[in-house]
Amino acid sequence: MDQKIPIINLNAELDPLDSEIKAALQQVLDDKKFILGPAVQRFEKDFAAYLGVRHCIAVHSGTTALWMALTALGLEPGDEVLTTPFTFFGTLEAILWAGGKPVLVDIDPETLNIDPQKLEAALSPKTRGILPVHLYGQPADMDPIMKTAKSNNLWVLEDACQAHGSTYRGRRAGALGSAAAFSFYPTKNLGALGDAGAIVTQDDDLASRLRLLRSHGEAGHYHHVLLGTNARLDSFQAALLSVKLRRLEQRNEARRRNARKYAERLKNAPGLRCVRQIPEAQSNYHQFIVQHAGRDALKEFMDKKGVATAVHYPCPAHQQPVAKPLGLDGGSFPAAEKAAREVLALPVFPELQDSQIQYICDSIIEFCNSHSGIEVSQE
Ligand SMILES: Cc1ncc(COP(=O)(O)O)c(C=O)c1O
Repeated sequence: MDQKIPIINLNAELDPLDSEIKAALQQVLDDKKFILGPAVQRFEKDFAAYLGVRHCIAVHSGTTALWMALTALGLEPGDEVLTTPFTFFGTLEAILWAGGKPVLVDIDPETLNIDPQKLEAALSPKTRGILPVHLYGQPADMDPIMKTAKSNNLWVLEDACQAHGSTYRGRRAGALGSAAAFSFYPTKNLGALGDAGAIVTQDDDLASRLRLLRSHGEAGHYHHVLLGTNARLDSFQAALLSVKLRRLEQRNEARRRNARKYAERLKNAPGLRCVRQIPEAQSNYHQFIVQHAGRDALKEFMDKKGVATAVHYPCPAHQQPVAKPLGLDGGSFPAAEKAAREVLALPVFPELQDSQIQYICDSIIEFCNSHSGIEVSQE
């Protein structure tokens, strides 16, 4: 079988929407309301309604959404925020730029999300909040996280940058904590034509502060009441996002179908593990991840088979070159370190064909059968 399977296929997603997207962008050109115009307001309203939250504040990236949410939550220099070492580094950058100190808590080795059982031991008098990441789209185990937060008077900021449309006990990610940050980076399940993001919350006061922060702290014309910035989402991105939001549910369902096929067909592959899905959560399968002790060899094997795969993330936060000068390198987090050595993302995009999934599974099983002796990943 002569295959070339990409990890993501933006052509397949965007081409069928071409005329609808162009009409939405043309509308922005016609309106000429390029800054916080009707397209932004419409998207904010639609996305908030979709998630079941009161407020959505659209900004220009997920990193900015995290940073602004932390600032609006009142983070002060030296305040500590509990988070995971196994995430995109932007999660930690946001805490640091907001003046806080990330305190890392290892992940559950099976779900790869922050381990709620390890939170208590990381608390200190300076802890102000918890920042769980819904990694690969699977919500972190929010009940015990919220319980720890409540009994210690902490806020919870969800990093929902990968979790558009995921649910936990039937509620959407983003509607579970004090606030949540989303990224609409082009390859996300809901992706823009460039950088974009949003903060969502049920809290009216927090939402007012966020709207001020997003636009120079300006409460009236040239009347600046707090130190803000310019973090506004532009109208073209908002118009596109509204078009794509209408397809999100259907596209997430297609990803879930693909994920079920992978889980079923790969369940007996020697030495291979899929990420455990907790019964409370329903992932949007932003990524479908397998783990194997010979991950790098598997990736190379799949390349030769014409199947693109990806590693998210090859190095946990505390081992990044930037960790030392920032003082993040204290401690070891064995589950995160093992995950960084073993995870591999497979194509899971909605348009993937059944025959392609079969080919990918057959190739992986062929690899696993010939590498069944590998039990410990390389340090
Ligand atoms: C978990 C996580 N946090 C934060 C971000 C940052 O979002 P952005 O790239 O929109 O700044 C991303 C984006 O990749 C992410 O996946």
